[in-house]
Amino acid sequence: MGDFREELERTRKEALEAIESAEDLVHLEEVRVRFLGRKGRLPLLLRTIRDLDPTERPSAGQLGNAIREELEAALGKRKLELEKGRLERPSVDVTLPGRPLPRGSLHVVTQTLEDILSIFVSMGYTVVSGPEVELDYYNFEALNIPKDHPARDMQDTFYISDQVVLRTHTSPVQVRTMEKGPPPVQIVCPGKVYRHDSDPTHSPMFHQVEGLVVDKGITFADLKGTLTVFVERIFGPSTPLRFRPSFFPFTEPSAEVDIQCVLCRGSGCALCGQSGWLEILGSGMVDPAVFGFVDYDPEVYSGFAFGLGVERIAMLRHGIEDIRLFYENDLRFLMQF
Ligand code: PHE
Repeated sequence: MGDFREELERTRKEALEAIESAEDLVHLEEVRVRFLGRKGRLPLLLRTIRDLDPTERPSAGQLGNAIREELEAALGKRKLELEKGRLERPSVDVTLPGRPLPRGSLHVVTQTLEDILSIFVSMGYTVVSGPEVELDYYNFEALNIPKDHPARDMQDTFYISDQVVLRTHTSPVQVRTMEKGPPPVQIVCPGKVYRHDSDPTHSPMFHQVEGLVVDKGITFADLKGTLTVFVERIFGPSTPLRFRPSFFPFTEPSAEVDIQCVLCRGSGCALCGQSGWLEILGSGMVDPAVFGFVDYDPEVYSGFAFGLGVERIAMLRHGIEDIRLFYENDLRFLMQF
């Protein structure tokens, strides 16, 4: 009986220690099996009661049961503690530094477009958009380009039907705006335009910004002043520029604006075709014939208009030689801007 009691007490102590030091639920279950499982230490020990003197068996059995209950209670208590700890301890280490997300940025064409627009917005212009699939009437007819007029050659495009085209410029937005109401008008029209063109400096789709100002007393001096400010703000304050006579069916007189070649600084190179100048936009005083299409009285109102290619400005500002780079989505190119 003495041996039995001693062994019982040793089992109890070791079990309590093991329960206390179990660090997780898996470990605790191992401890339970080891001490209380069918072949665990306590059941095996209790089985030896039958070898004791019959008078000693009842008290030995009582003691054994009391210890079994004590150990089960200790197991249950430890189990609760571990479960609670598991909830309270976050399963992720919130002190680890975060994994960096690659940051996106605006496409260089979008950046250039926004730069251009913000210059005109700062001068009081409103930004207006219109449809890319356009009626022949707005894209050509109302801009004084009748069917079969040779000027249509300059802007050959994609025909959806006889009367519907992909717009070749954003000028139709100007006609639509004038149709909606009387002067004053002071707008810039950004957007995608389409032409039957494809080479290193021309893409079948590209972006334009066109502008229109109509009011009483608008003169060519306003056009020159506005475009000079624009060029100086987009290419730098001391950029030499010139106005060169040109032709557009919807403006009279018309002028193209050239800046001094950004590469050779005027001495002549391959980029500027040895001329020392680079064309960057078309402009002119609105042709009275256009006013006729929108019921503006050309005896009362006058205006100027201009149009430029966004990709071309971006190419000149950043020294990009092939327009196709803008559309290939090569991150090595795009991430430079
Ligand atoms: N619409 C012309 C083009 O796309 C540009 C332009 C606009 C020229 C306004 C003069 C006046 O080529």
